[in-house]
Amino acid sequence: MARRLSSLFVLLVLLHIGMAILVMAAPSCGPIEANDRDRIQFALNLEFLEAEFFLHAALGKGLDSIEPSFAQGGPPPIGATKANLDPVTNRIIEEFGYQEVGHVRAIIKTIGGVPRPLLNLSRDNFANIFDEAVGFKLRPPFNPYANSINYLLASYVIPYVGLVGYVGTIPSLVNSTSRSLVAGLLGVESGQDAVIRTLLYEKALLPVVPYGMTVADFTNRISNLRNALGMCGIKDEGLKVPIQLGAENRTESNILSADANSLSYSRTPPEILRIVYGSGNESNPGGFYPKGGNGRIARQFLTKV
Ligand SMILES: *[C@@H]1O[C@H](CO)[C@@H](O)[C@H](O)[C@H]1NC(C)=O
Ligand SMILES: *[C@@H]1O[C@H](CO)[C@@H](O)[C@H](O)[C@H]1NC(C)=O
Ligand SMILES: *[C@@H]1O[C@H](CO)[C@@H](O)[C@H](O)[C@H]1NC(C)=O
Ligand SMILES: *[C@@H]1O[C@H](CO)[C@@H](O)[C@H](O)[C@H]1NC(C)=O
Repeated sequence: MARRLSSLFVLLVLLHIGMAILVMAAPSCGPIEANDRDRIQFALNLEFLEAEFFLHAALGKGLDSIEPSFAQGGPPPIGATKANLDPVTNRIIEEFGYQEVGHVRAIIKTIGGVPRPLLNLSRDNFANIFDEAVGFKLRPPFNPYANSINYLLASYVIPYVGLVGYVGTIPSLVNSTSRSLVAGLLGVESGQDAVIRTLLYEKALLPVVPYGMTVADFTNRISNLRNALGMCGIKDEGLKVPIQLGAENRTESNILSADANSLSYSRTPPEILRIVYGSGNESNPGGFYPKGGNGRIARQFLTKV
């Protein structure tokens, strides 16, 4: 009897702690108040990031060479450079880069732009993210620009966050012009993510030289890191998963990341900021955005501090 009572007590305490965590975490996963323009300008932060990362890697130059007016006076990105890519990967990334230029243009034309935020695309920033993901310091430090596998792994870090953001944005948009814009953006972002994941899946079991971990291991760890920073449960899955996360609980391959009904996960702007700032806190900029994102939504979290 005493034994049963004490386990009941333990259960109640655990329940209580669980509730406390839920109460603390719940508000930061819920919807935010914002109008269509603010939500789409928020996404422009990610479009700038992708444009610069892809263009520089494929062409050795970025938005300032291709469409200089789009940055609206924002500073050039730090550390973005040509990547050492095989010809097919280079072609794919070049196309993606130009697609992002189109996305930035479409947003500017439809709802108006914001200045490009300061972007940190340096090797060191990626090296930090990869160290965080694996839980120790990689030696030599991870270099996203060194070869195609490294570059694709580094790219695994980026369009997916845009994709889940767009899935989260569409239901909140009131104006049909903005809904069609974001539907069109989402289509191409998810296509890019699928291509990157397929290219990585073909190499899933190969080691990432010289680290001894496979491509699949890296994707799982990066996804876990994003889930931890986002703080709203599992919304991100690597290329090889336990069967209960696979499609219909029947596959361990996980070429696309999706929920129990194979629907895309969605994220709110604060979740996205926690991830891309690398800080787990939408009020603490860093990571890809040393000075934070632009537009009302991102700035509002910064000034709350
Ligand atoms: C929807 O948004 C577009 C583009 O910003 C604007 O021109 C249009 O007037 C808006 N429509 C409504 C009904 O608010
Ligand atoms: C870019 O990131 C690296 C690695 O975290 C850091 O050392 C560097 O200071 C950052 N640059 C800026 C301007 O924040
Ligand atoms: C797969 O497993 C999860 C729990 O692990 C469950 O919620 C879901 O309903 C299952 N899906 C199918 C199709 O059996
Ligand atoms: C986020 O950062 C701000 C500013 O540093 C701080 O005031 C706030 O407590 C942090 N939030 C959490 C949940 O840690």
